[in-house]
Amino acid sequence: MKLNEHVTWRPKPVAAGALNGKQVVVIGGTGGLGRALSRELAAAGATVTVVGQTFRDSDIANIHFIPADLSLMKEAQRVAALLPAENLEMLVFTTGIFAAPQRQETAEGIERDLAVSYLNRLLILQQLAPRLGILRKQPSLKPRVFLMGYPGSGQRGSYADLNSEQSYSAMAAHMNTVAGNEMLVLDGASRYPHVTFFGLNPGLIKTGIRNNFLGQGSLKSRITETLIGLLTPSPEQYAQKMLPLLVSPDLERYSGSFFNRKAQAILPSPGLDAQHIRQFIAASEHLLARTGLYETAQSASPLSSNTHLSMTKDFHMKQIFTSTTVGRYTLKNRFAMAPMTRSRAEFDGTPGKLAAEYYAQRAGVGLIIAEGTQPSDDGQGYLMTPGIYTDAHVAGWKHVSDAVHAKGSRLFIQLMHAGRMSHPDNTPHHRQGVAPSAIAPGAQMFTPTGMQDAPVPHALSTEEVHQTIQDFRVAARRAIEAGADGVEIHGANAYLIHQFLAPSANTRTDEYGGSIENRARFAIEVAAAIAEEIGADRTAIRLSPGMNMWGIEEGEQGPALYRHLVAELNKLGLAYLHLMHLMHLGNEGLLQDIRTLWKQSLILNRPGKPREQIGDDVATGLADLESYGQMILANPDFIERLQANAPFNEADRSTYFGGTEQGFTDYPALNATL
Ligand SMILES: Cc1cc2nc3c(=O)[nH]c(=O)nc-3n(C[C@H](O)[C@H](O)[C@H](O)COP(=O)(O)O)c2cc1C
Repeated sequence: MKLNEHVTWRPKPVAAGALNGKQVVVIGGTGGLGRALSRELAAAGATVTVVGQTFRDSDIANIHFIPADLSLMKEAQRVAALLPAENLEMLVFTTGIFAAPQRQETAEGIERDLAVSYLNRLLILQQLAPRLGILRKQPSLKPRVFLMGYPGSGQRGSYADLNSEQSYSAMAAHMNTVAGNEMLVLDGASRYPHVTFFGLNPGLIKTGIRNNFLGQGSLKSRITETLIGLLTPSPEQYAQKMLPLLVSPDLERYSGSFFNRKAQAILPSPGLDAQHIRQFIAASEHLLARTGLYETAQSASPLSSNTHLSMTKDFHMKQIFTSTTVGRYTLKNRFAMAPMTRSRAEFDGTPGKLAAEYYAQRAGVGLIIAEGTQPSDDGQGYLMTPGIYTDAHVAGWKHVSDAVHAKGSRLFIQLMHAGRMSHPDNTPHHRQGVAPSAIAPGAQMFTPTGMQDAPVPHALSTEEVHQTIQDFRVAARRAIEAGADGVEIHGANAYLIHQFLAPSANTRTDEYGGSIENRARFAIEVAAAIAEEIGADRTAIRLSPGMNMWGIEEGEQGPALYRHLVAELNKLGLAYLHLMHLMHLGNEGLLQDIRTLWKQSLILNRPGKPREQIGDDVATGLADLESYGQMILANPDFIERLQANAPFNEADRSTYFGGTEQGFTDYPALNATL
């Protein structure tokens, strides 16, 4: 076991009463280390629920007991349903047992050590983690999960014969539980960002853990435990040492870390990479499914399945159908339609005649974010995109707002200034595009005569930057006049605001270029101006951290820039932040930081996210809403289809941009009256 010097924390004594009002669950809290920890936690004021076989602490008022035999998955499932997941501060799993000399099998057909020491934890975590701590009142820290085992001891485990059916060795069976527990910490830390996960390695402690192996009460057992007792701390000493660690705020940043019995951080075992973890957990889920209580969502091969259990899935789907608030509005569900340019507006930028029908058809979602809409002549980049700055635009959008409201949804218009992603052939005025600096994106654009290079733009003077901010302000006012519920500022996908953020597109030397603060200034000033004009609770912004395309290179400072930008935007109290997050580029760490920095609603869009994962980000608390683009484009009755578990129409890419009702308002609904 090697120490992990990157993880540091300062032990502070935990005063009596420090945990008053906090709810803690200790699985295996009726004996050994678990019992000692439960008593320490209770002494500090926590309300502790222990789960185990024989309760010995009925004299302590704030320790409650749920009897259970957790060698059975059906029992684990029952216990999971009884625990107050939403209000929990901490969930502790203690060490399990040791494998017996000969293979023992539970009534459910699972090797006993695997069932007791590992598999029930996987099941309980899958049931509880998505909901853990989400209803606590004014929590100061994320809810915590501690898993005891022997992390850092170099065990990778082998999933090929997880249930030891082909061959059995007590040591190999036990090492699978050791590795499994370590992987639960690593997997939990990446899968559930609203929770922090830690592994505890107590080393050798005098307990009954080895009874299974040595024979309960046998001479061998007594001699071994006596020797261990002489050389190592007692469970009580261990628990006293651990208590400050368990509650330390310093740990908040280190989800996925491990600690030895001296409460020092240790390194995880080598070789526990993402693929191995995925395969090990998939094999474990497959084994769970065999108990007959569960079905893996995609059964087939255990190694190809990386899905949650179907019960967890049901919960995820339920959550996303609940109502939520965004700014001043209550939404009927947590689905948003992502903004999508359709290039079907009139030549002057007035929304086309079918726009109201198109959006009304899709108004089953709680929030419609309408397509990128230019705030000014200069803001237009593509052909036939709508604007929102003339009286004709306002009148056109009014039809859309009314139609969406009539269907009980809300409409935010996306204010999109394309900046240098424009071509003179695409706009009525044929002027050169504008940008922070005179640097061409090095990308081609669709124009009436086919694909052409986007030309070198005009670099905005400082005065023109100020004017552009005013254009955004006026457009937002006009959107409200048109009956929209708010506006979303397009700060993503290589358009003007993103161009200001990226050093590859912004080489300015005034207050809008250079440092992180300067490059973020334009975005912040646009948001502040709009918030002042129409109210922060009707103002939102979309960002796409890490999206390097069309000449946008955010560079090494990218993550730091977004942390600064989001922290500053957060101060404005906007209605929501809409993040577009590419899974394959996925900087999940930054995503989690943003979630922490951003206190209002967060809408998450993961391009290409498969249908099976719908609802997961809301259920884990990472997002308040999830937005979908192409699935909603192709399915006017997206919500009904989801509820009926009906198949989706495929989107036809050839009709995305421009054209008639074909591929716009003529996608069939399940119920033809729609
Ligand atoms: C036809 C089309 C047009 C789009 N136009 C916009 C746009 O105007 N503004 C914007 O922020 N994103 C735009 N996007 C990106 C979508 O909002 C969304 O992020 C993307 O389609 C990925 O999500 P999905 O896989 O659920 O479709 C567009 C996407 C498509 C397919």
